[in-house]
Amino acid sequence: MPRQLFVTTALPYANGNFHIGHIMEYIQADIWVRFQRMQGHAVNFCGADDTHGAPIMIAAEKAGKTPQQFVADIAAGRKQYLDGFHITFDNWSSTDSPENHELAQSIYRALRDNPDGSLIETRTIEQFFDPEKNMFLPDRYIKGECPKCHAQDQYGDNCEVCGAVYAPTDLIKPFSALSGATPVLKNSEHFFFKLSDPRCVAFLQQWTQDGKLQPEVANKVKEWFSVRTNPDGSTSEGLGDWDISRDAPYFGIEIPDAPGKYFYVWLDAPIGYLASLKDLLNKRGQSFEAYMANPALEQYHFIGKDIVTFHTLFWPATLKFSGRKTPTNVFVHGFLTVNNGEKMSKSRGTGLDPLKYLQLGMNAEWLRYYLAAKLSNRNEDIDFNADDFMARVNSDLIGKFVNIASRAAGFLTKRFDGKLTSEFGALGAELLADIRSEADAIADLYEAREFGKVTREVMLLADRVNAYVDQNKPWDLAKDAANNEALHQVCSVLVNTFAVLTRYLAPVLPSLAQAVQGFVGQRMDDWEVDADVQAIQPYQHLMQRVTPEQLDALFEPKEPSAPASPAHAAPKKIAKSAPATVPADPNAPGGEALAPTITIDDFAKIDLRIAKIVACAAVEGSTKLLRLTLDVGEKNAQGQPTTRNVFSGIASMYQPEQLVGQLTVLVANLAPRKMKFGMSEGMVLAASHADEGAQPGIHILTPWPGATPGMRIH
Ligand code: MSP
Ligand code: ZN
Repeated sequence: MPRQLFVTTALPYANGNFHIGHIMEYIQADIWVRFQRMQGHAVNFCGADDTHGAPIMIAAEKAGKTPQQFVADIAAGRKQYLDGFHITFDNWSSTDSPENHELAQSIYRALRDNPDGSLIETRTIEQFFDPEKNMFLPDRYIKGECPKCHAQDQYGDNCEVCGAVYAPTDLIKPFSALSGATPVLKNSEHFFFKLSDPRCVAFLQQWTQDGKLQPEVANKVKEWFSVRTNPDGSTSEGLGDWDISRDAPYFGIEIPDAPGKYFYVWLDAPIGYLASLKDLLNKRGQSFEAYMANPALEQYHFIGKDIVTFHTLFWPATLKFSGRKTPTNVFVHGFLTVNNGEKMSKSRGTGLDPLKYLQLGMNAEWLRYYLAAKLSNRNEDIDFNADDFMARVNSDLIGKFVNIASRAAGFLTKRFDGKLTSEFGALGAELLADIRSEADAIADLYEAREFGKVTREVMLLADRVNAYVDQNKPWDLAKDAANNEALHQVCSVLVNTFAVLTRYLAPVLPSLAQAVQGFVGQRMDDWEVDADVQAIQPYQHLMQRVTPEQLDALFEPKEPSAPASPAHAAPKKIAKSAPATVPADPNAPGGEALAPTITIDDFAKIDLRIAKIVACAAVEGSTKLLRLTLDVGEKNAQGQPTTRNVFSGIASMYQPEQLVGQLTVLVANLAPRKMKFGMSEGMVLAASHADEGAQPGIHILTPWPGATPGMRIH
């Protein structure tokens, strides 16, 4: 009987593009889903954008868009990533969909009207209110002086200087980060989900401790049943009730029978899983209710370690006490870091931009393979390391595995008209049988999400195949026609082992598997196939190696190069972090807090000059860069006028011909930097918002009339 599975990944906030952490989560889930499909099971794999909440509402306002338009624009950018990395969601929806509005409201009603006693309670709480913006302020939008160390400009929940944790009401001289106004305390009625209700506690104790969760996750959750930390840093016993309402204005779903009240984003976000599924089934003309009523339906959520509370306490309780099916399991992964643990900002990601990866023409399956090789079923962080990436891809994936096919295919096509024999010889038959006999063990590893073990197991098998090649030396056999039969056997063994290993890796390498399917004439999306390959099509190159240049380009600090120093930092394999450590801050001007104060002497070190753009051209191989030829009034030793060559990441904004003849500003004493396309001798200034998603565009500076090339800017 095929299993019925409903699988999700966490719904990403619709306030930015995907970063590599998101892609890792999708690749992990996609591998598992593809494996299940290969087993003949029926999977509905659903995703959606998480659209609600104050930060998105505020970001939309800043971008001059309605929240609906803002999240629609983000949604429009999703497909290129999902397609690019071969992630096969059956549906991608939004938590602002009609299905989600309807489901969230009906789930809420069921909780409120629970026949054994309501699980919703209202309480009046006192909260900071911005009298200018006319809204209650979430903690992160209140700033002030730290009550402990008196550092200025600290957030409402904790001090970044001394680390103190406190309530926003403890701040000295609090102000609204949105308007600067002094907030006032105001009462408001909030709705609470009574997690402390003995029914909830008993259910959650059981649900979280019955052995389904990963042991490290279950242990962490266990602690929450005994103590919890309050907003002011004090602790209380047991599960606390959960505040599920927010006051207007709020981008969210209205609470029924409570005008001006909205669900807190985390109430409706996981309901978005069901809403996406419902949308999918509606489109197919299937009944959502009937599908969910199937007692054999399995429901799994892939999530990161930062959102475990929501998925192991709030979410199962929400489902249980609204009379719905609870998740079969929640699979928690750790965080992906880049270059040895560099912390990745949740909203901005790291230096590894997944879209840039694709735009550089890097193979999505390199990344899928590399991440698979690193993943286990434990909640552990994993690190992307460029050297390690190159080794795993080039030495293992290509050197050990892909090359098996190329070593045999040519001989089969040229000497045997592409036909294979099923006479494998004793050694070959044994090798092939051994490799085939691993199918169940490998399937178990996939089922258990032990993808690292899968890749290691397959590489060990590939090692055995390569040892067989070295013993039998087909290239030597080919020298003498007397060895034709042996050559035919050896090459047939190789292609057959290659077909089996490809099937073992097909969940990780779907596109390669499809190419191999054409090559060997066997299905690669069905785990059960174990027939011998009869004939092959002429071999076509299956996979390119990754080059150091590609990795350099990938980690070249973010273009556009103009605004800050990053693009001109010394070239390095992986951008450890942008040298300007100014934190992103949606409320600060231009989306980033001001850099630390400098003296006039510091400024004097920077030599800014007026430059005339005498020529400008697109850069072949780069979608972002323009090559500028600049006249800065300089002459060489012979007194001849000279120009400078500068690359600038402004190709998305300007056509080369628009710029020729214009004046701009050059950082003239910046150390020259060797780039992939040549030397860059300085940097032109341009303005951009820190959050490209919120306010795209980069704008170069132009002086007022009268300035001439070479003039210094003081
Ligand atoms: N919107 C919520 C989830 C709602 S689920 C009903 C959210 N969004 S998120 O965009 O911040 O994160 C989405 C997923 O990406 C989460 O599972 C999160 O753990 C994961 N990751 C975010 N950064 C990550 C890494 N650096 N590495 C791996 N996964 C990471 O949380
Ligand atoms: Zn402090």
